[in-house]
Amino acid sequence: MTDLIAPYGPLAFFLDLHPDLGDFRSDAIAGLSAPQKWISAKYFYDENGSKLFQKITELEEYYPTRTEKEIFSANAPAITAGVGPRAAIFEYGSGASEKIEWLLNGLANPTAYVAMDISKDHLIESASALARDHALPVAAVCADFHAPVDLPQNALPAPAHWLGFFPGSTIGNMLAETAVAFLNRAAKTLGPGAKFLLGVDLEKDPTVLNAAYNDRDGVTAAFNLNLLRRFRRELDARFNIEDFEHYAFYNAAEFRIEMYLRARRATAIEIDGLVFPFRKGETLHTENSHKYSLPRLTALIAKTPWRLDAVWTDERDWFAACLLSNS
Ligand SMILES: C[S@@+](CC[C@H](N)C(=O)[O-])C[C@H]1O[C@@H](n2cnc3c(N)ncnc32)[C@H](O)[C@@H]1O
Repeated sequence: MTDLIAPYGPLAFFLDLHPDLGDFRSDAIAGLSAPQKWISAKYFYDENGSKLFQKITELEEYYPTRTEKEIFSANAPAITAGVGPRAAIFEYGSGASEKIEWLLNGLANPTAYVAMDISKDHLIESASALARDHALPVAAVCADFHAPVDLPQNALPAPAHWLGFFPGSTIGNMLAETAVAFLNRAAKTLGPGAKFLLGVDLEKDPTVLNAAYNDRDGVTAAFNLNLLRRFRRELDARFNIEDFEHYAFYNAAEFRIEMYLRARRATAIEIDGLVFPFRKGETLHTENSHKYSLPRLTALIAKTPWRLDAVWTDERDWFAACLLSNS
């Protein structure tokens, strides 16, 4: 299959870098073989996982989406002035492409919007809907943001510079060294003169954090358990899903929410004839969500080619929007 299709329905192009082929099975087997069983958080996001995440963003307990949107709308003139005219936007982990509207409306003459996500069907659906509603060229890239991406520059009008957009504190899912490697790669992809608008969740009362990842309606639990449904559906894994439960807590020493699937009883997961036993209470680590202080965030950015131009927070200092430039 051709990786680049231009145009693709209402999209200026669709670039498929096949982030999922082959990896899920080998990553699951490797992760289940480790002393602390684990699986990368990127596997949450099949179509069902993306829809469940969308529901999480609407939960009363889940403050990040609401708070980040408040910061963007309260500071839109300053942020868009900081980005400057004729930028082309590249959104990492674009999901439902829900947070882009204010940028498209507020920026001076943006030249294009490129959505990038690992969840292919959700990406195409969301980007296509956006393309139908906007005159500017919209494109989609299905890729893993932990790998390099070369933008097909010729398929779009030349911008004055690129703006990387990475909201939702998705950077918090990365260990610090992975976040630095990610920002280094983004600087290469977006080039000299690029800007980067980054949303980051901040340290706060652990009660608020614990509630946000253990909602009363069990949507976060369903999102976490969806990983096991993918094991069954896509890897023909054999096990009893009722043997596992959602488990999330704030680890204050590491400044992060840690999320696990925990065995309710002694059980096992079998994939390709390999049996991975679980003791009662044993866990499969599925996600970290790091919470930053502004000094730790500034120190992290200082290890990358990006310069921190400005930071905006909400009234409670729960969340930060940072504008960076690649000088
Ligand atoms: C926490 S959600 C944020 C979604 C949206 N940007 C927001 O702010 O609400 C993370 C998004 O990143 C995508 N994602 C996760 N891991 C990824 C990876 N390794 N490469 C590309 N996209 C990824 C998911 O599919 C999902 O849409």
